Amino acid sequence: AIERTLSIIKPDAVAKNVVGAILSRFEKAGLSVAAARMMHLSMEDAGRFYAVHRARPFYGELCSFMSSGPVLVAVLEGEGAIAKNRELMGATNPKEAAPGTIRADFADSIDANAVHGSDSAETAAWEISYFFGQREIYTR
Ligand code: CMP
Repeated sequence: AIERTLSIIKPDAVAKNVVGAILSRFEKAGLSVAAARMMHLSMEDAGRFYAVHRARPFYGELCSFMSSGPVLVAVLEGEGAIAKNRELMGATNPKEAAPGTIRADFADSIDANAVHGSDSAETAAWEISYFFGQREIYTR
């Protein structure tokens, strides 16, 4: 089925100037950009987005890192977009990410891991609505 998923190109990847290289991987895999915006998240923006992780030991670090510089938030659309995006990203920890995945090629650490992607249909719907209104999302 055609799905939508939320992608975030994180501050480390924006700082490395690989936004285009990462978007190109999505497009080459058959996903298309349905919405996109550069943002510099506040600590509070990041905290609410990652609220599901608030009890985890890495929550504070995660929120500081995600608000440390600009990010690109995007909606990706296509056949099986949620799983496809996760395949393209590779494992959360770049040390465990398969060769050729975005995290293997562009990420430095589990915190500075280049990209975020929604992990289920339910999460995707919530994450997309956190950043985008219906009228900001475009289908080809
Ligand atoms: P992301 O997919 O954005 O979701 C939560 C983020 O927390 C994750 O990517 C990692 O960058 C970060 N993180 C830091 N430590 C851990 C950990 N031990 N397990 C999972 N995520 C972690």
